[in-house]
Amino acid sequence: MPDTITIIDDRTGKQVTVPITDNIFPATAVRELDPSLFIYDPAYMQTAACQSAITYLDGEAGILRYRGYPIEQLAEHSTYLEVAYLLLNGELPNPAQLDQWKNDVTSHTFIHENMRKRFVDGFHYDAHPMGMLISSIAALGTFYNDAKHIEDKSSRDKQILRLIAKMPTLAAMCYRFSAGLPFVYPDNNLSFPANFLNMMWKIGSYEVDPRLERAMDVLFILHADHEQNCGTHVMRGIGSSHPDPYSAVAGAAAALYGPLHGGANEEVLKMLAEIGTKDRVPGFIKEVKDGKGEKRLMGFGHRVYKNYDPRARIIKKIADEVFEVTGRNPLLDIALELERIALQDDYFVKRKLYPNVDFYSGLIYQAIGMPTAAFTVLFAIPRTSGWIAQWQEMLLDPEQKIARPRQVYVGPEERNFLPIEER
Ligand code: ACO
Repeated sequence: MPDTITIIDDRTGKQVTVPITDNIFPATAVRELDPSLFIYDPAYMQTAACQSAITYLDGEAGILRYRGYPIEQLAEHSTYLEVAYLLLNGELPNPAQLDQWKNDVTSHTFIHENMRKRFVDGFHYDAHPMGMLISSIAALGTFYNDAKHIEDKSSRDKQILRLIAKMPTLAAMCYRFSAGLPFVYPDNNLSFPANFLNMMWKIGSYEVDPRLERAMDVLFILHADHEQNCGTHVMRGIGSSHPDPYSAVAGAAAALYGPLHGGANEEVLKMLAEIGTKDRVPGFIKEVKDGKGEKRLMGFGHRVYKNYDPRARIIKKIADEVFEVTGRNPLLDIALELERIALQDDYFVKRKLYPNVDFYSGLIYQAIGMPTAAFTVLFAIPRTSGWIAQWQEMLLDPEQKIARPRQVYVGPEERNFLPIEER
């Protein structure tokens, strides 16, 4: 069978034959056929917008790999900082490289005092931590005038370090502000996840439990990248017009905030609390099915996974380890019952709806003591390494240009302006 597709324009009889590699049909064939012809693909259901060597995802088989390494192996043997290095550089670091990288990140954890005093202190007392984080990331960029030199590798590398290192500081700062607690400065003697937990929870003396430190690190690994999802697509889209990376990360974080994306873990907890008891699960499932898409089972379904999300499987395992320290989250039983019933129900089976990464992560965050409103902030910290890796890849890709899709105009034909007294 030839690895080609031929398209024929029946209007003109013109035909174009194009090679098919990796199941990709090049849109250039359409341009060749007729430059005024466009492909209509709302929500990019059938469109690949870039080539990427960072993350491999097979949604039918439930496979996720960073730079070729299975997520299960990374979650078991690696650390978030090592994974961030891998995403950014393509290879795992050797011992000297890892020491240098950890040292570099650790020495960039502090933020300018004015970020907190002049900027964060201006938020309303009940501001949502994610809204604060998004604006804080953009504000942080204004402290680094060199950040706009994105064509300069040494400037890019500096911003990469700053963004990865300062995200936990910004995140903890936003939480402490909303809780009315004094800011805790980074402790550079601690590991990346332990430093974050310390900034979140330290009041008087506080020691990070090593089991929670490891759980946090694994959660960071699992959330680090997920190829061309909504937030990453925004990162590349904003980055394609060449602003500083802080502006692009702020935009990507805003996309992550939505309840259909990274905001879903917050919604899962609200949903489980609304269900309240295990015996009410069947009734809730019925409401979802009768709602015909209006009401959703949050933490279920995925644009790409049509199988169990491998991250959800790992998170389910960590949950047990966390609950040994914190005590069992009572909502877990409701979640397990929801999963059990949904996975047997024809409605969910037929649509291939399985638990996604957000289904169990919120239960762990809640058990550790994280407020529900801060859940998406916890997602944004590690996803920053994925966003920046994708941004860097896009900048260095000679095929990429400013992102600019076309539209199908369906508005009124030309008409004459009417003076206000005639309307
Ligand atoms: N509960 C009930 N039904 C669902 C759900 C759900 N969670 N998700 C999809 N469906 C149904 C839809 O109603 C639709 O049914 P239909 O064919 O009868 O119309 C069908 O499954 C396909 O759904 P789409 O919305 O077309 O799927 P899409 O790929 O566009 O959406 C999404 C993916 C947004 C993740 C969706 O599954 C959803 O809303 N899930 C709940 C929110 C969530 O958990 N988001 C987190 C995703 S992971 C992440 O972003 C980090």
